[in-house]
Amino acid sequence: MKIAVLTGASSGLGREFFKNLQNIEDIDQIWIIARRANRLEQMAADAKIFTRAIPLDLADRGCLEQFSDVLKQERPDIRILINNAGFGKLEYIYDLDYAQQIDMISLNNGALTALCAMCLEYMHEHSFIINVASIAAFAPNSRMSVYCSTKAYVLSFTKCIRQELKPRKINALAVCPGPMATEFLDVAGISGGRSKTFERLPYCDASLVAKKSLEYAKKGRAVYTPRLFFKFYRLLCRILPHGFVMKFSKT
Ligand SMILES: NC(=O)c1ccc[n+]([C@@H]2O[C@H](COP(=O)([O-])OP(=O)(O)OC[C@H]3O[C@@H](n4cnc5c(N)ncnc54)[C@H](OP(=O)(O)O)[C@@H]3O)[C@@H](O)[C@H]2O)c1
Repeated sequence: MKIAVLTGASSGLGREFFKNLQNIEDIDQIWIIARRANRLEQMAADAKIFTRAIPLDLADRGCLEQFSDVLKQERPDIRILINNAGFGKLEYIYDLDYAQQIDMISLNNGALTALCAMCLEYMHEHSFIINVASIAAFAPNSRMSVYCSTKAYVLSFTKCIRQELKPRKINALAVCPGPMATEFLDVAGISGGRSKTFERLPYCDASLVAKKSLEYAKKGRAVYTPRLFFKFYRLLCRILPHGFVMKFSKT
């Protein structure tokens, strides 16, 4: 049983990944994870290939244990793991409830790390992992301190494991998109003119990001940054002091 595991499948980029996964020939099943069970079940019912809806709150340690138990029971052949679930908050550190800050770290970093660790036992040569980071990984940003920091972790962690996994011929790709028109913006509190930077930035097309991410992960690439504009931003963040970059990138 060759499977693809996809987190954050119930909306936005996750849904786009799901559409693309259904067209990959050597995948027999897709396992989709998010909290909203009704959405996952509808997606599974409409899917072209067998899809298993696994409603879990990945910020909850108990749910991670549940997923680990499913893996131990089924012992699947995982060909593709996509750690896409994540959220951000546009708020100063002192204005944001500490519980939400911890949840952000638990989901964006804790769950992503746990899923990589537990799924790798069931991954073999030529399989791959896609971890969704963000352009927020390239330099710190005030008003999104926790989010930026979690995404910097995702980028760094993915590069680390890619190196570790080379002898096993498993690739890990970090995807670093700019803004996309998804539920992320409402969840983060970015909509409604709260950030001039987000209004000015060019947007990435989530369907293209999903398609290209799968192509590049298969080809063995390390990092994928959609759009020339953000590739240039990534370069600037490498050569300029971050204190300087932050004056212009303030969200
Ligand atoms: N949109 C952007 O501007 C943007 C830019 C750069 C990077 N990203 C990254 O892209 C990824 C996908 O985001 P998106 O734009 O598609 O946003 P989205 O539409 O809000 O999707 C987020 C997904 O994560 C799931 N999720 C949230 N909390 C969860 C939890 N505790 N447990 C399990 N699943 C959870 C959500 O499902 P449920 O609510 O059903 O649980 C949803 O399926 C995220 O990692 C995000 O940081 C987004």
